[in-house]
Amino acid sequence: MKKQIVVLSGAGMSEESGISTFRDNNGLWNSYDVMQVAHIDSWYVNQNLILQFYNDRRRQLASVSPNIGHQIIAELEKDFNVVVITQNIDNLHERAGTSHIIHLHGELTKACSSKDRNKRHVIDIGYNDILPGDLSVDGSQLRPFIVWFGEDVPEIEKAFIAISKADIIIVVGTSMRVYPAASLIHYAHADAVIYLIDPAEINVSIINDVEVIRKKASEGLAFLKKQFYKKYF
Ligand code: APR
Repeated sequence: MKKQIVVLSGAGMSEESGISTFRDNNGLWNSYDVMQVAHIDSWYVNQNLILQFYNDRRRQLASVSPNIGHQIIAELEKDFNVVVITQNIDNLHERAGTSHIIHLHGELTKACSSKDRNKRHVIDIGYNDILPGDLSVDGSQLRPFIVWFGEDVPEIEKAFIAISKADIIIVVGTSMRVYPAASLIHYAHADAVIYLIDPAEINVSIINDVEVIRKKASEGLAFLKKQFYKKYF
């Protein structure tokens, strides 16, 4: 029976592809006010600013590629069952070939209705802009298919179930500062093996019994891949 690996990835996973994180020194939240561009309340007052913020990030995404870390995770599917639960809105896990991905905070290459939270009328827009006046089928202004602060996280149930079934959990590139994503680790079953990959010192007191690998994602994942093939094959 193949071992079940769950990867919980954050912005650090895409840092080596050239996409900045949020809370590092050169992070996005140092140049933008998160409340202005990533909070639902702001959507009602700052739509053009928000549309431009995500248009800029979508254009950048068109010009970057998955890094070795994304590729290693995709390659693990040869001998393991792999589910990636990502806080990232980029499509780099998909482009590296990972088949099972749960996007907790939405997807940059999709847009949806801004009227109805239930019938989201989600559409693929690739790397195109969303402009003021671009309408959803329900006549509302199209918005980025992103989970903003102040909104619920529709995929969280699916993520709880996935992580509760994991034999191996790899937490990579996340500061574990945003909930409910950060609480997922508490749903690991008692004998799941947990690894955390991050070049910085992360407060892991919320996770009992975790092996910390103080490396960047690509290096840490290459190290772990070697470990797994020694240990399980
Ligand atoms: N490899 C691995 N980890 C890295 C790398 C790298 N090359 N570079 C940076 N990191 C680590 C940082 O040390 C930090 O711990 O990645 C983490 C990034 O943390 P954040 O910037 O807080 O990103 P993240 O945890 O994904 O943020 C969660 O916050 O603003 C919201 O919705 C946004 O999804 C995001 C959520």
